[in-house]
Amino acid sequence: MLEALDRLYEEARNALEAVADSEGLSAWYSRYLGRKGAVTQMVRRVGELSKEERPAFGRRANEVKAALEAAFQARSRAIKEAEIAREVEAGAIDVTLPGRPLPRGRLHPSTRILREIVAILTRMGFQVYRSRDVETDEYNFQLLNMPPHHPARDMWDTFYTTEPGVLLRTHTSPGQIHAMREYAPHPIRVILPGMCYRYEQITARSEIQFNQVEGLAVGRRITMTDLKGTLVEFARQLFGEDRPYRFRCSHFPFTEPSVEMDIQCILCGGEGCPVCKHTGWLEIMGAGMVHPVVLRNGGYDPDVYSGFAFGMGPERIAMLKYGINDIRYFWGNDLRFLEQF
Ligand code: FA5
Repeated sequence: MLEALDRLYEEARNALEAVADSEGLSAWYSRYLGRKGAVTQMVRRVGELSKEERPAFGRRANEVKAALEAAFQARSRAIKEAEIAREVEAGAIDVTLPGRPLPRGRLHPSTRILREIVAILTRMGFQVYRSRDVETDEYNFQLLNMPPHHPARDMWDTFYTTEPGVLLRTHTSPGQIHAMREYAPHPIRVILPGMCYRYEQITARSEIQFNQVEGLAVGRRITMTDLKGTLVEFARQLFGEDRPYRFRCSHFPFTEPSVEMDIQCILCGGEGCPVCKHTGWLEIMGAGMVHPVVLRNGGYDPDVYSGFAFGMGPERIAMLKYGINDIRYFWGNDLRFLEQF
C-alpha cells in the first residue's frame, strides 16, 4: 500500500502540473485532497494494514498530504498571477488614444433664477425662512383669512391628501403665519422660497408644481411706500434699471390693499405680442399690506404693527428673462433644454 500511495503521489503531482486555470485547480483539489479525494480515501485505509506497517504508512501519508498541499498553494499562486496579468493586458489603457470629454454640470434654470432672486432680497436684509410643503387647511387658508367655503379658495385648486385637513400647499403664504408665530412680537423681514402644488390644467404657462418666493416684512410704521420701494428696487436689479413697471389694483384675502406688479413686456418692448396677450405688460407678482386678521393670527397687534407681503413665481420670471416659451420644459428633463443654461 506504500507503493500505491507513492504512485498516487506521482500521479497527483503530474496532474497538478497540467492544471492551467482556477476551475482546473478546484477540480484537482476535490479529486485528490477533498473529503472524497483519492489521497484522503487511501489514508483512511490505514485500518487494513497490520499493526507493524501502520506507523510507516502514517508518516508517509502525512508527508504526501503536506507536500501536495504545498504544491497546490504554489500552483494556485502562479495561476492567479498569470490570470491577473492576462486581465491587465486585456484591459490595458492605451494612453495614446484621445480622451473622452466629461460633460460639465449646469445649474437648473429654476435653481439659477431662485439664487438670483434670493441674492437680491438677502442683500436688502431679508432672511431665508424654510416652511413645510405639506400643510394644513388651517395654515394654507383659514389663518390667511379664508374660512371654510370662502369663495376666494377657488383661486387655488388644491391637492388634498387622504388625511382630513392635510394638503399640499398651494402657495408659500402659509409660511407667513409660521414665521410670524415664531418671531412675534419682534420685527421680521423674511423670504420663503419653496415648491407649491396646484391641481391645475398643465399648459404652456401653468404647471402643477412650481416654485414661489414669498416675502414678508412686519414692524412698526411699515407702509405701502416701503412695499413699493422694495419691489421697484427688486425689479430694477433683476430686469435692469430702465425696464418700465406698473402696479395694478388686485385682490388677495390676506392683504389689504392688494396689488399686482407688472413689467413692460421683454419680448415686444410694450408694443403688444402673443406672450403679453397684446397688453404690452407682464405680471411678475402679487403683493399687498398684510391684512389685520392675518397679523393677529400671526401674533402681532394690528393696532401697533403693520407689514407688507409679496409672492412671485420664479419659473414665470425665468421664462420672461430667458425667453422660454413653455413652462413644461422646466420639469421635462430634456437635456437639449437644460444644456442651454
Ligand atoms: C399667490 O399665490 C399669492 N399667495 C401671492 C401673494 C403673496 C399675494 C403675498 C399677496 C401677498 P398667485 O396665485 O397669483 O398668488 O401666484 C403667485 C405667482 O405664482 C404667480 O404670479 C405666478 O408667477 C406663480 N404661479 C401661480 N400659479 C402657477 C402655475 N400653475 N405654474 C407656475 N407658476 C404659477
